[in-house]
Amino acid sequence: MTEKSETSDFDELVKNIEEEIQEEAREIYTEKTLEEAYNPKNVGELEKPSGAARVTGPCGDTLQIHLKVEEGVGGGDKIIDCKFITDGCGASIACGSVVTELVKGKTIEEAFRIGYKDVLSVLGGLPEENIHCSVLAVDTLRAALEDYESKSGKRIR
Ligand code: FES
Repeated sequence: MTEKSETSDFDELVKNIEEEIQEEAREIYTEKTLEEAYNPKNVGELEKPSGAARVTGPCGDTLQIHLKVEEGVGGGDKIIDCKFITDGCGASIACGSVVTELVKGKTIEEAFRIGYKDVLSVLGGLPEENIHCSVLAVDTLRAALEDYESKSGKRIR
């Protein structure tokens, strides 16, 4: 066998494995979850975040959230940007992406009211064993909001 055909056999094998994995994932996760996991929004860090937190979930995975807050004139302080990073599973990437989208444009008070069920409802649900991934994303958001409260000296809730 030539080197070239060995390479193409290997490529074919990798392609088949990838297709099998994607098919299995489609049976377990909703289309929205896969879309957010493969193309997450707001991944990264912010320079000088107004609030930041890194939380480790019961599974040992970590999620970090950075918030940029604009002080409100008259109204409440508003979240104008939000980024996340995780070393967790695909579901945690999807949950981090959804949380960052949900908080943008919200006041701190409104952001505190976001619960893991809001994340699940955007994703169309998660398997039982991945519910804690959405809880991790929301716990991290709350910790970042609390960090903002303590940095700004404002008690918002
Ligand atoms: Fe750890 Fe999903 S965040 S398994």
